[in-house]
Amino acid sequence: MRHEIVRREELAPGYKLFVIRSPVIARKIQPGQFVMVRVHEKGERIPMTVSDFDREAGTITMVVHEVGKTSRMLASLKEGDTILDLLGPLGKPSEIKKYGNVVAICRQGTAGALYSIVRALKRAGNRVTVIMGAKSRDYLIFEERMRRLCDEVVVATDDGSAGMKGYAVAALREYLKHNHVDYILAIGPTKMMKTVGRIAREHGIKATASLGAIMLDGTGMCGACRVTVAGSTKFACVDGPEFDATEVDFDELQRRQEFFKEEERLAFELYEEGT
Ligand SMILES: Cc1cc2nc3c(=O)[nH]c(=O)nc-3n(C[C@H](O)[C@H](O)[C@H](O)COP(=O)(O)OP(=O)(O)OC[C@H]3O[C@@H](n4cnc5c(N)ncnc54)[C@H](O)[C@@H]3O)c2cc1C
Ligand code: FES
Repeated sequence: MRHEIVRREELAPGYKLFVIRSPVIARKIQPGQFVMVRVHEKGERIPMTVSDFDREAGTITMVVHEVGKTSRMLASLKEGDTILDLLGPLGKPSEIKKYGNVVAICRQGTAGALYSIVRALKRAGNRVTVIMGAKSRDYLIFEERMRRLCDEVVVATDDGSAGMKGYAVAALREYLKHNHVDYILAIGPTKMMKTVGRIAREHGIKATASLGAIMLDGTGMCGACRVTVAGSTKFACVDGPEFDATEVDFDELQRRQEFFKEEERLAFELYEEGT
């Protein structure tokens, strides 16, 4: 079944928001889950987190970062275009409960993936602070939406054009000097989540990271999304994507994410050349 794009918004250079008609997924999706998207018959499936959903309108929202061939094809679609198929909801929902003081940390477009989780954590009675990192002010995605949703937003930019100058993890370290935190949720680059895991371990705080493992089928059949957590093999698509950030082997995850770099580069070049 084809899925119509009902709204498309440019959030920042290389980042697009899509609202897509998909009543079945909209009815069932829970915060933290994702879908596998296939743009056309010959295309690969790629995982995308459902950032938001409207059960009554039958729509889901995704924030797409253009990094390679398929994400760029997806991002090039316009309002009224359709997506060939969406498979989901997939993955385990986020564990939503009352933790107390929660910090959710992200970088640029991954703020989209945090959005419905932050809302659910707020509704569960938590005090939620969102720490947002970005290259510069122009890449602060969902800042206003997050300010409306949570108790506090802390901004860190690499060039100092907004908030603190530096990375989000430095802002987290600073925040922990002055605040008691019960739970940290990280969605972002692997390096960032690895540092969050280390910080959480040092402070004895429960922490979760949503892993961007390479996925092919998204249903536990192919093994592409294999990750090691607390010494055991897990499949990010069915056992995750969220795992205890203090227990993930992030170095292995990073190596596996780079496994197809050459093929991805070639596919992108051919796409750019229009072949
Ligand atoms: C559970 C999950 C949720 C995600 N949610 C979002 C989201 O909401 N928005 C968003 O923009 N991106 C999201 N991603 C990442 C997104 O799936 C990849 O950026 C996309 O697959 C890249 O494909 P490409 O052809 O454009 O780029 P490619 O050139 O193929 O790859 C570029 C990089 O993306 C990663 N990647 C490539 N293929 C896959 C794959 N099949 N699965 C996972 N990562 C891959 C690799 O690290 C690679 O180096 C998510 C990934 C996972 C695992
Ligand atoms: S993507 Fe195939 S097992 Fe997870």
